[in-house]
Amino acid sequence: MKRLAVALLATTALATPAFADELMDEAVDYFKPLPSTVPAVADNPITEEKIELGKMLFFDPRLSASGVFSCYSCHNLTTGGDDNLETSIGHGWQAGPRNSPTVLNAVFNVAQFWDGRADDLKAQAKGPIQAGVEMANTPANVEATLNSMPAYVSMFEAAFGAPDSVSFDNMARAIEAFEATLLTPAPFDAYLNGDAGALNDDEKAGLQLFIDKGCIACHAGINIGGEGYFPFGLIEKPGADVLPEGDRGRFAVTDTVDDEYVFRAAPLRNVAVTAPYFHSGKVWDLKVAVQIMAESQLGEELSDPEADQIVAFLGSLTGTVPEITTPVLPAETATTPRPTA
Ligand code: HEM
Ligand code: HEM
Repeated sequence: MKRLAVALLATTALATPAFADELMDEAVDYFKPLPSTVPAVADNPITEEKIELGKMLFFDPRLSASGVFSCYSCHNLTTGGDDNLETSIGHGWQAGPRNSPTVLNAVFNVAQFWDGRADDLKAQAKGPIQAGVEMANTPANVEATLNSMPAYVSMFEAAFGAPDSVSFDNMARAIEAFEATLLTPAPFDAYLNGDAGALNDDEKAGLQLFIDKGCIACHAGINIGGEGYFPFGLIEKPGADVLPEGDRGRFAVTDTVDDEYVFRAAPLRNVAVTAPYFHSGKVWDLKVAVQIMAESQLGEELSDPEADQIVAFLGSLTGTVPEITTPVLPAETATTPRPTA
């Protein structure tokens, strides 16, 4: 009897077509699975040498003036690629104005930052190093720091193929190459690739709601968001406790009144492990964030079970972080600029 059941199961499994359910058909129209290889990026051919160098730079606190903050401080790869703080703490223990987004899969965002002010990861990487509230450094001091350590100089030469290749721009290119490797395939990718069993019933119900309620209008594509800009509060502006009035989003980038309180639709991969939520970091509970979205962006009141199912679906976007060996960084030398407070 038992053997028969197993045999029947096997036959059913074999007879199941690759795209087994209508929901899956619908989902592949709106979403794209992660690729299995590192994606190409503009003007920066990705090589093993750049990735290795970029990884070291990502972990190196000596890129900050104080010698305390690395990219990793605010984008901790063991906790979802962010810092799990309301807004980030940087140079001199100052709190910055915004929540730190994850670097995981960030390579697929149309542009970087909550307001999209950096075109790509290499442009982005130059921002925090110079930001007074983050790493508070200067390009010249970064170059002097890197040039003072022969191992870094050789790695830049190996990665960029020429003498004198230590530069702020090449540093950013190497960091971009490393970040392009930070892809986290999730159960939802397996589902999009045809494995109907990769999502459980609650997750599927949540996916159906995510499509039917209209979340997909802004959160679609490979990163389930990160592709376009929308007013936060399209239908109903959240209170200042969630959407503080001082941060007018893309208005600061375009200087256009229509862009007041417009932000990039957040990419939702790994969202279950990157609380707190929104650019303000004011919301700690994913279910509450989902309910706020439904009300503010769609004018919808979700029932409790609906919100739970959407949260379950969002959980299926939590992926496997690539295995990363902690790099051993070159030792500073007598000529390395000293940290400043
Ligand atoms: C945004 C990488 C250092 C806090 C970002 C983004 C990336 C990134 C890729 C954009 C992600 C997205 O838009 O979805 C890096 C790299 C760093 C670095 C490569 C080192 C060179 C830091 C540090 C802090 C920090 C040290 C904290 C002190 C933030 C915050 C944002 C951000 C708050 C959002 C800012 C905004 O939208 O205005 N970072 N980061 N980052 N990062 Fe970093
Ligand atoms: C942010 C989910 C509908 C635009 C978010 C976040 C979540 C989410 C969880 C926070 C992510 C984070 O902080 O990392 C949903 C769900 C929706 C929905 C479940 C459907 C019920 C929409 C729609 C739009 C939209 C229809 C566009 C009209 C945005 C924007 C942000 C965001 C602009 C960033 C807000 C900020 O500045 O903090 N969404 N969303 N969302 N979503 Fe949605």
